[in-house]
Amino acid sequence: MGLGCYSMSGAYGAADDAESIATIHRAIERGVTLLDTSASYGQGHNHTLIGKAIKDRRDKVFIHSKTGTIRSREMGSVAEGSGTPERLREICDLSLKNLGIKTLDVMTMSRVDPTVPIEESVGAMGRLVDDGKIRFIGLSEAASATVRHGFGTRTLTSLQYEYSLWTRDPEDDHLVTCRELDMALMAYAPLGYGFLTGTVNKAGAQSDADTRQKFPRFTEDHFAANRQRVTQLEALGRDKGATAAQICLAWLLAQGDDVFPIPGCKSRRHLDENLDAMDIALTPEDLSFLDLVFPKGSASGDRYPPDGMQRVNR
Ligand SMILES: NC(=O)c1ccc[n+]([C@@H]2O[C@H](COP(=O)([O-])OP(=O)(O)OC[C@H]3O[C@@H](n4cnc5c(N)ncnc54)[C@H](OP(=O)(O)O)[C@@H]3O)[C@@H](O)[C@H]2O)c1
Repeated sequence: MGLGCYSMSGAYGAADDAESIATIHRAIERGVTLLDTSASYGQGHNHTLIGKAIKDRRDKVFIHSKTGTIRSREMGSVAEGSGTPERLREICDLSLKNLGIKTLDVMTMSRVDPTVPIEESVGAMGRLVDDGKIRFIGLSEAASATVRHGFGTRTLTSLQYEYSLWTRDPEDDHLVTCRELDMALMAYAPLGYGFLTGTVNKAGAQSDADTRQKFPRFTEDHFAANRQRVTQLEALGRDKGATAAQICLAWLLAQGDDVFPIPGCKSRRHLDENLDAMDIALTPEDLSFLDLVFPKGSASGDRYPPDGMQRVNR
């Protein structure tokens, strides 16, 4: 299990740098070796924060960092132009500088740039490998065919894709491709952006600075149906002496050794709870129950608003 660092830069409300750094330290002490971040999280804040946290323990962690998309005042976040060789090199240099490291372990394109052939983007990241600036190349939210094309240019090490009980989209296609190509599937938002933990109890934004306010599944239209399903997770958790969050993570861990959940959290309390999920063994009956409660496509509402949906799986 890795540690997702997005919420440490205010994605879902205020964060506290001191507690975030303590959380990273605790994760390393408990044997976590994978940190997930992006050049875009907090516009560089996430990288400088991680840089501070790992200054004297760089050798203990594997840093997976994404390139981010381009922020436009008029259009929000856009993938167009984000995968050019020039930008990828620029972002890589900036990431190394902000993280205070010489080599990035995995560099991943956050979204496929539809204006640049994937071979060109992956080829550019390959040259960063040749130059010793990065060790491995990854993709995120890429369609299966795109992964295969990219892999034809340079070896790809991982695909990051949203994967959880309410987003089982990658199971039939992406996971098969990853297994064929011996790539890892990094399951992001494994807790459904917090919703599946059962701690989200009202529709819409949970605080003023909460990027989830536009996520359809959190809105008034879909909240009740989704919350109802989570009560079943909580019930299974009670039977097993676990929390809903732990059941979600145990379920992902049961999907295979090549599936790496990267739950995001910014407190030692949540971290400890999440890591303890590694001690929970789900029985075949538990897994069948979860299949019944969360069959593929069971979530009410899309995972992203329409503009976000356009940027995924392409
Ligand atoms: N490739 C992509 O497009 C993409 C997109 C989104 C995220 N990611 C990566 O994936 C990581 C994980 O995704 P995510 O953080 O968006 O969503 P997530 O892991 O599904 O959920 C994170 C939310 O759950 C809360 N939480 C964590 N553990 C909890 C627990 N035990 N009990 C109750 N609440 C808990 C967190 O609160 P606190 O923060 O307060 O602890 C946070 O609000 C991110 O950190 C990021 O690195 C990648």
